[in-house]
Parts: sequence; structure tokens; C-alpha cells
Amino acid sequence: MFPSMNIRMLLSAAIVLVLAISSLPLLDPKYFLSWKPRVSTVADLIVRNGVIYTSDDSLLFADSMAVGNGRVLRVGNYSFVQELADYRTKELDLGGKIVVPGFIDSHVHFIYGGLQMAQVELRGVNKKEDFIKRIKDAVKSSKQGSWILGGGWNNDLWGGDLPSASWIDDFTQNNPVWLSRMDGHMGLANSVALKLAGVTKYSKDPPGGTIMRTASGEPTGLLIDSAKKLVGSQIPEDSVDDRREALLRASNLALSRGVTTVVDVGRYLPGGSSDLSWVDFSDVYQWADTLLKMKVRVCLFFPMETWSHLADLIKRTGLALSQWLYLGGVKAFADGSLGSNSALFYEPYVDDPENHGLLVTDAEVLLNLTLKSDLSGLQVAIHAIGDRANDLILDMYSLVASTNGMRDRRFRIEHAQQLASGTPGRFGKQGVIASVQPDHILDDAESAGRKLGKDRAEKESYLFKSLLDGNALVAMGSDWPVADINPLSGIKTALTRRPPTWEKSWIPSECISLEDALKGYTIAAARASFLEKQVGSLSPGKFADFVILSADSWEEFAEEASASVEATYVSGVQAYP
Ligand SMILES: *[C@@H]1O[C@H](CO)[C@@H](O)[C@H](O)[C@H]1NC(C)=O
Ligand SMILES: *[C@@H]1O[C@H](CO)[C@@H](O)[C@H](O)[C@H]1NC(C)=O
Repeated sequence: MFPSMNIRMLLSAAIVLVLAISSLPLLDPKYFLSWKPRVSTVADLIVRNGVIYTSDDSLLFADSMAVGNGRVLRVGNYSFVQELADYRTKELDLGGKIVVPGFIDSHVHFIYGGLQMAQVELRGVNKKEDFIKRIKDAVKSSKQGSWILGGGWNNDLWGGDLPSASWIDDFTQNNPVWLSRMDGHMGLANSVALKLAGVTKYSKDPPGGTIMRTASGEPTGLLIDSAKKLVGSQIPEDSVDDRREALLRASNLALSRGVTTVVDVGRYLPGGSSDLSWVDFSDVYQWADTLLKMKVRVCLFFPMETWSHLADLIKRTGLALSQWLYLGGVKAFADGSLGSNSALFYEPYVDDPENHGLLVTDAEVLLNLTLKSDLSGLQVAIHAIGDRANDLILDMYSLVASTNGMRDRRFRIEHAQQLASGTPGRFGKQGVIASVQPDHILDDAESAGRKLGKDRAEKESYLFKSLLDGNALVAMGSDWPVADINPLSGIKTALTRRPPTWEKSWIPSECISLEDALKGYTIAAARASFLEKQVGSLSPGKFADFVILSADSWEEFAEEASASVEATYVSGVQAYP
């Protein structure tokens, strides 16, 4: 009798039903994980009129994208994605700007970096006077007796002279001071800190460490490798609140740089405590995840000696704890660093002719741990910088793969920095992932020549193009806080290989294309951590994590390799600015 009314009632009932269903996932974050996109979902947001680079080879560029329930629904032309719009759908006109998938930083020390942000920043300091001034300023704003902590200094930036306590003792008589070198293998203590730690002229070097001394045997304040613990053990531990704030600070910084996912390789450094990663996992990450305070997605690697703990945990929880927190695998160290002359090489260091560097983990222990971790299904990542360390790990990976049998294991080498001739091809052949950090080129181009000799450095340093040509999966990252967390800078460096003061590229034949660099920070990085089903490209069904860049055209971006982040979206929601 009243057909129009019946239809209206039916319609409103249908709308109520649709609203109820589509709001369900918001109630329970875990729902996202099992949620499969429905073909007919309505878009919450349509992004249009831009240059959308997807990192998905099936459709690399598009001008529009539809987002719903935090996921990418459709990518293509405007009329195609518009089919999913209704009265609730918001539109974002990009005005021709570039959009890329949210960046994935494949190697960061996230909590450590966030803690360091609250300390004296010495990264980039290139004058002794500036170094001194920053500590002076910090003393002014510190309470008497409190520790002054800082890090990131690099003596190579002011000509190589190592700092000493005498630089800062005059004005730090009331505060112990500890300042880490950028690579974390060395630090400077002032005399107050040395006294607290009981380090004197008569102290012996601990095994695996060095107390640097003047000609008359007095400690200079510099402590290397395990000797760092002498002072480190005196520094009050970071409180839970400090570490939680560190996560928030680190997350906000990451988002401002377009980073929406990080791989946190932990707070473990050679000679340090291996428990920190687990303490941070429970106190900081699980806490933030449970209270829905996570802002970037984090994939965690834990010290390899704790493999059975991780394997048990994954058996109970699976790899994804939520849409924010993922259990990645285990990490170990093969060698040290180039900056501290402890990366392991076939040939000795030119500036230290008795020294080939060192294996920091006993080869048999490392093999045993890798066999067990791999057999229990864990992904394994091992730090290797020197050419010899890289070959040893590739040999070992090959032995482990043949012992444990075929599977999709995705072994990783972290840094893969100096590679002997023939080695780049082995990564692709063996299916080993190279997890590299382009911006280390900015610090190393100068010093690698000095430490290895110009020829050797040019043959074997940061061989990104050779790795790609050999079909290796090359995942990119920053190693933050060792280098800045800044994918756009890393991309520029991978394309140009030119440190700021250089006129020419360092090893121009190893420059890579914009597309390869973008993939290194997106889809390749996702594959390198088994996250390619969730993130890494703007493909239907994946999280709608994306970044709007300031560059006006793709040509401009490709040519100058420079752009800045205008906005960062996570799960389709603006997270920066
Ligand atoms: C828009 O995309 C759809 C789906 O890919 C395609 O069928 C259609 O031809 C496109 N329209 C235009 C104007 O290019
Ligand atoms: C490695 O494992 C083998 C066999 O399980 C064992 O005999 C050997 O002692 C282990 N070596 C080390 C250094 O742990």
C-alpha cells in the first residue's frame, strides 16, 4: 500500500546494518589481522589527482586510490576508484603531488634512538669548539651531580683527532659525563665519570676492551668496546617511563620522515646486555600495543642466544601480535665496525697493518645457534661488515640451508657493507637478503679510503647495483641512531653516492635507480621481514600506509632525487603533521 515507505524503511535498516558491520573492526584491533577486504566495501577516503607510485609491479603508477577500514581498496583512475564512494567518503585532492607507500626502515635501534633524542646530540658536529659548546650548554641546563649523556660524535668530521676528557673537564666538575661515538663501539668519559668508575692509571684493560691512555699512562677518558662497561655500569638505568617516552619520541620522528614501519634490531650491542630487547618488548612495546598507543608498525628482532624464548612465544602468539607489532626473528653479530677497525677483512687495515678485524662471536657457537634458530622456523639476521665476515656468513648460511633442508627462510645479512669480488652474486644465488644503509656512505666514503686504501675501498664498498644485478633482495634502512632516520636522504644517497663536500660520486657504477631505491624502502623491505602481505606496496588489501611528498612531478623527483615529506598516513589516517 505504501511501497515507497517500505523501501525507505528497508533502506534505513540496510544502512544501519552496514554501519554496524563496518564499525566492528574498530572495536578490536586484532580483527584487522583476520579481516579480508570485501569487494563492495565503501571507501572512507579517496585520494585523487596525484602521481601515486605503488611499488606493486602489476600497476606501478596511478592517479587515484580508494581507502576503507584502514586498507587500500582500489588503485587506478578516478572513475574506477570513485565507484566505491558514497555520501560518507572524504576526498583528498593531491594537486598533482607524489604519493609513495609508507617507508619501511629495515634496521633501527628504535628505543635506544628515542632515548638518545633526549640526550646531548653530537651527530654532525664538525668542530672541536662546537663539541665543547654543546656539552657546556648541557651543563647549564643540568642539575649538579646528574649524569650528562650524549652520543653520535664522529671524530672523522673534524679531521680525526680523538676527543679527551681534558676537552670538557674544566666545566664538568659537578657532573659525570658519558658521550658515545656514533658507532657505539667507543665513548668518552670525563674525569668525574672515570673516578666514579674507579678507572685510574693503574687499571688494567678488561678482556675485549681498551682504556685509551696518554704517553704517561693516564686514562684519556676514551673507553673502547668492553671497557665501556666500566663507566656504563655506573649510569643509572633508564626508567620504564623514560623508555616509553622514547618510543613515542622515536615514533613521531619516524612519522615526520614518512616511516610507517620499522624493523627494530634491539638495544643489544657487542659487549652489552642481551636482555634489553626483551625488557623493552614487555615494558614498552607490549604495554603500548595493549593500550593502543602504537603509532608505527614495529617488527622486532631479538638476540640470537635467546632463540628458544622467541620460538616458544611465536608458538603461542603467532608472528603478528596486532596490526602494529610483529615478531621478526633473531639477530647476531659476526664482526665489529669499520669505524672502530673491528670489521673482519681478508687484508689488514692500511692504517693498522697488524689488524684484520675480528669475529665477535665464535664461529662454532654462531653455527650452532643459527642451526637451532633456523630449525625452529625463526628468521635469522646476522651483522657482517667486512668482506671476510660476509663470506663466512654466506658459507655458514649455505651449510645451514643444506643441513636443515629447503624452506622459505629469508636469511638476512645486516649491512653487507664490504664485499669481495664475486660475493654480491652469492646473495641472489643463495636467496640471502642484503639489509643495507645507504646513508653510511656519507660517513664512510672518506674514511674507507683511509682505512682500506683507495683501490680496495672502491672495489668493495656498498655494492648496491652489483647486488641488484645479481638478483639479490636489497632492503634499505638507516641504522638509526647511528645515522639519521630519513629514507628520502637514503634514497638520494643510493642514487648519487655523493657525500656533502664531494663534487663527484663515490663509485658511480654502483649508483641505482629511483625505482630500485624506493623498492628498497618499501616492498623489498617488507619481503625482507615477511611483512609483504600487510605492507610495502599500495595494493588492494594491504594497510593504507602512504606518504605525500613535496615534489611536483615524478621527473623532478627522479632528477634531483630530493623531496620532503608533506604528510604521512597510517591505516588511511593522517599521522603527520
Ligand atoms: C579506468 O579504469 C578502469 C579499470 O581499470 C578501466 O576499465 C577504464 O577504461 C579506465 N577509464 C579511463 C578513462 O581510462
Ligand atoms: C655445537 O653443537 C655440537 C653438536 O650439538 C656440540 O657437540 C658442540 O659442543 C657445540 N659447540 C659449541 C661451541 O657450542
